[in-house]
Amino acid sequence: MPIHWFPGHMNATRQAIKDRVKAGLDVVIELLDARLPGSSSNPLLAALTTGRPSLKVLNKQDLADPAMTARWLEHYDAQAHTRAIALDAGEKAPARALVKACRELAPHRGGLDKPMRVLICGIPNVGKSTLINTLVGRRAAKTGDEPGITKVEQKIVLEDGFYLFDTPGMLWPRISVTQSGYHLAASGAIGRNAFDEEEVALELIAVLRRHYPERLKERFGLAELGTDDAVLEAIGLKRGAKVRGGGVQMHKAAEALLADFRQGLLGRITLETPEEMTAWRQAAAEE
Ligand code: G4P
Repeated sequence: MPIHWFPGHMNATRQAIKDRVKAGLDVVIELLDARLPGSSSNPLLAALTTGRPSLKVLNKQDLADPAMTARWLEHYDAQAHTRAIALDAGEKAPARALVKACRELAPHRGGLDKPMRVLICGIPNVGKSTLINTLVGRRAAKTGDEPGITKVEQKIVLEDGFYLFDTPGMLWPRISVTQSGYHLAASGAIGRNAFDEEEVALELIAVLRRHYPERLKERFGLAELGTDDAVLEAIGLKRGAKVRGGGVQMHKAAEALLADFRQGLLGRITLETPEEMTAWRQAAAEE
């Protein structure tokens, strides 16, 4: 699916990450969307921070299928120098688990003489601001300038000897897996003008049909599921997206489905499994 986005501060962000690696980096936190952990991960970040321990934070777990989140956590925990936790960014106590996980990944760091230096990254809308606000509460200080570091970097003091570095801007990957483009668009990570909502809604219907057919039927009062187009049309009819003469405004039907999915009104749903993601990546690499 063609996605028309603008890389924005991409180069500045890439440079800021390189600068941070040079200045000292103990743990990289990659914030992922628990509904699409593989698709919301950025291979470019891994390439820029090679050799550093990685903490995968599966955020928005309240919207994701708990059984699938458990599978994804297991998948990441099995990787070398990697740990994974699941969170709702707004909840204080779980957010603190992140500090503990970083300490476990870099046990030799901590205290004022050897501070823990952690970089936090994530694609837009994944919940980074929410998480930082939750973590910071009223205790932490924010300063902009760090010698030798691009000014865009923010240093957040989480506790004495524990620094969280936030790099504003975007680090969008080139999306080589077609399904990832659809999943990112469905999740709301990509601005709505950058993709065709109808196409994304049809793909979402295909995923829901495979993994959560009953949810789809229940939410929209459908007795059975016809073709993807027929399902979208039926959703449109249920949501009053009719046009004079009897047709359906398919883009309105698509908007209704995407809005419901984003708000969790279809229940807790995960769009992809670790195994699917591995297979998709392999297929994309062989193309
Ligand atoms: P960003 O900095 O990574 O771009 O994301 P941000 O924190 O702004 O969060 C993007 C949206 O995701 C916000 O919703 C936020 O409330 C929501 N969000 C963040 N973390 C979680 C989570 O763990 N669970 C759920 N369900 N939602 C989460 P919004 O609609 O854009 O704004 P608002 O609802 O806060 O007004």
